Amino acid sequence: ADQPLVLGIETSCDETGVGLVRGTTLLANTVASSVEEHARFGGVVPEVASRAHLEAMTPTVERALRDAGVRFSDVDAVAVTAGPGLAGALLVGVAAAKAYALGLGVPLYGVNHLAAHVAVDQLEHGPLPKPSIALLVSGGHSSLLLVPDVASDVISLGSTVDDAAGEAFDKVARVLGLPFPGGPHIDRAATGGSGDAVAFPRGKYDDGTLDFSFSGLKTAVARWVEARERAGTPVPVADVAASFQEAVVDVLTRKAVQACRRYDVRDLLIGGGVAANSRLRALARERCEAAGIRLRVPRPGLCTDNGAMIAALGAELVAAGVDPSRHDIPADSSMP
Ligand code: KG4
Ligand code: ZN
Repeated sequence: ADQPLVLGIETSCDETGVGLVRGTTLLANTVASSVEEHARFGGVVPEVASRAHLEAMTPTVERALRDAGVRFSDVDAVAVTAGPGLAGALLVGVAAAKAYALGLGVPLYGVNHLAAHVAVDQLEHGPLPKPSIALLVSGGHSSLLLVPDVASDVISLGSTVDDAAGEAFDKVARVLGLPFPGGPHIDRAATGGSGDAVAFPRGKYDDGTLDFSFSGLKTAVARWVEARERAGTPVPVADVAASFQEAVVDVLTRKAVQACRRYDVRDLLIGGGVAANSRLRALARERCEAAGIRLRVPRPGLCTDNGAMIAALGAELVAAGVDPSRHDIPADSSMP
């Protein structure tokens, strides 16, 4: 018989994501983004995001069903991001998912957004080796995780003590006059520059922990650029972008490899929006190869927020026989 068809709904930030997954097969991954409405504010405005989710929800679900060539009545389970994220934004997805699950008479799974960033890789590279180490780098989080089982057991080994990696990308982009969200723009600008043009600081490089710190780096870049502007010398945007990016990915990959060594794990997964970064992907590949670590990074469209990742984790929970959530689950904006 067929494996269950899982509908996944993601609304934790500014992307309304709807995914359809059968087992570990991806059938649809439809994303409507309100990013352009936030760009002029230089960051995501929660109220604007919530309203955009409300408007996008039904059309995005309908489009995903069309993309997958399935009917609503074919859906066997609904999974939704229950946290962490923006409270009002999460509520829209959770309310919609409850309604769909009730209307269809199928089980509802409230899932953790961060675990879903890990689980999504299974759609591309098959079952996740147990245990794996995961480096999770997004706009809101930067963590190293030990993952014995993504459905039931995810242990935090370290995380950022200040800014998330994506947040640093976005703030530095702003300093360089690049649009929001800055990550992809810095990635692109950096291809024309040199990663060792400017020696920016690498926070917590040798501190022996698996924690990160990016706020000192962000400040150092801002000071460096301001000094140039004050002196009336042009800012070499490509070099600054490349050197900043190099500082971030140097620390991320170094600590990820250290985590694998420390816990004697041979499989590393990188997920979250910043995992779309081309230099991070290249340096991770290089360092993992040298250290004998197998590396898994989903394609960029599965790294940034999407509904397929929520459906993927939902499918994993169904397969693991985990009890569904009650139909009165809350949205939990600070879920660990
Ligand atoms: O996972 P995600 O889509 O949303 C959160 O859960 O936060 O991550 C968004 C973050 C943003 O900060 C964005 O600038 C960053 O991921 N990002 C990138 C790239 N693409 C997205 N950062 C660096 N290089 C990229 N190519
Ligand atoms: Zn995310």
